[in-house]
Amino acid sequence: MTDQVELYAQHLTEKTQRFQAILTATEFDEIIIAAGDSKMQFADDMAYPFVANPYFREWIPLGKRTGSYLQISAASDRPKLFLLCVEDIWHTAPQSLPPGFERELEIVEYASISELKSYFGHREGGTAFISEVNTLDIATDCWNPTSVTAQIDYQRRGKTVYEQDCVRRANRLAVPAHRAAYEAFMGGASELEIAAAYLRGCNCSENEMPYGIIAGINEHAAVLHHHNLDKQRQTPRSFLIDAGVAMHGYASDITRTYAYDPGSDFAAMIDVMDAAQQELVAGGGIGKSPVDLHVLSHFKAADVLRQFDIINVSAEDAFASDITATFYPHGLGHHLGCNVHDKGGNLANAQGDLLPPPEKYPKLRSASPMVANQIHTVEPGLYFIPALLEKLRQGEHASKINWSRVDDFLPFGGIRIEDNIVVHADGSLENLTRDAFRDVS
Ligand code: GLY
Ligand code: MN
Ligand code: MN
Repeated sequence: MTDQVELYAQHLTEKTQRFQAILTATEFDEIIIAAGDSKMQFADDMAYPFVANPYFREWIPLGKRTGSYLQISAASDRPKLFLLCVEDIWHTAPQSLPPGFERELEIVEYASISELKSYFGHREGGTAFISEVNTLDIATDCWNPTSVTAQIDYQRRGKTVYEQDCVRRANRLAVPAHRAAYEAFMGGASELEIAAAYLRGCNCSENEMPYGIIAGINEHAAVLHHHNLDKQRQTPRSFLIDAGVAMHGYASDITRTYAYDPGSDFAAMIDVMDAAQQELVAGGGIGKSPVDLHVLSHFKAADVLRQFDIINVSAEDAFASDITATFYPHGLGHHLGCNVHDKGGNLANAQGDLLPPPEKYPKLRSASPMVANQIHTVEPGLYFIPALLEKLRQGEHASKINWSRVDDFLPFGGIRIEDNIVVHADGSLENLTRDAFRDVS
């Protein structure tokens, strides 16, 4: 834990320097970030599960504490955390900081918004306020000003050592959960039972997941975001699980695919995809283009289709005629951090200009060359999605497909393999996910 406190202290120092540079550039005196408040469901007295927004979470590991505010000011090197402290007999005590973290912050307890307002700067136009709701009644042009948020989103693409450590830990915490899920699948469990095994494996509640567990058995493995988990047990053939764990608000985002029968063609296809995924990981690094890697991943998908006799033309032809888009309709990867799909991946610069993906690959979330300290996912896939296959069957390239082979694979759904990769400043790549599976017993 001591190590983490030290890393957190360095993280706060680095982030404060970055934010003070933003203050200088934008001529604001301070940036105030609200964690947010719980939201009631319409016509009900129940609140939705609360999670603080990533602008707040990248400073403060209090994702569940409503009414928290953070002040970073040009006048101080120490961020100030404002915590709402009022008597509440209905709920358990609010979430507290991890041990030792509180020493690194100046903490102020407040009881009302009017008291809170008295702590902040009063120069007109001097406060930039980042918040879903304008609880401080700040002038509209100072509420979520893009001159500030674009710079934050752009600079957050480079992760501090603390942030890398959090995602590394989030990967390690996910390993026992992924193993428990695999064992449950092999034991014939339903998707919902597998998700329960996953949660037990990481000792988390569903509300603590960084994103909803995707656990697809058989055909459901073809549903890219299959969250509506089946309660019925099925005769198992294949299983795709995409699930992470959150560590101090930072996510892991891990996908594995399994075949029930190790002798099946589908098992062989998983092995080929696994090798291709590792080659794609190795193709990353400083200065490397996510677009080039994405194009390469389509070449590899075409190769797999050829190897398993799903197409009767060359891999080059399948790539050129965009047949691979039917089998692989998502992007190769994205930035990872407080958001699973971290903001900033699509920015060209700190002014907030967008760098859109090529027209041919609209789902690609990141197009700018990789730089040091980024964390990317690498997650190629190959799926048998009935709706997309039907369009292919109706189209000009239908004759290039061996439809009986498609029928062979349809009952298995699909494959995705996803690891989390740190691009280090010395040029090395760290595969947080494979390292975790290797090292965590
Ligand atoms: N878990 C969602 C994704 O991999 O992008
Ligand atoms: Mn992902
Ligand atoms: Mn994922």
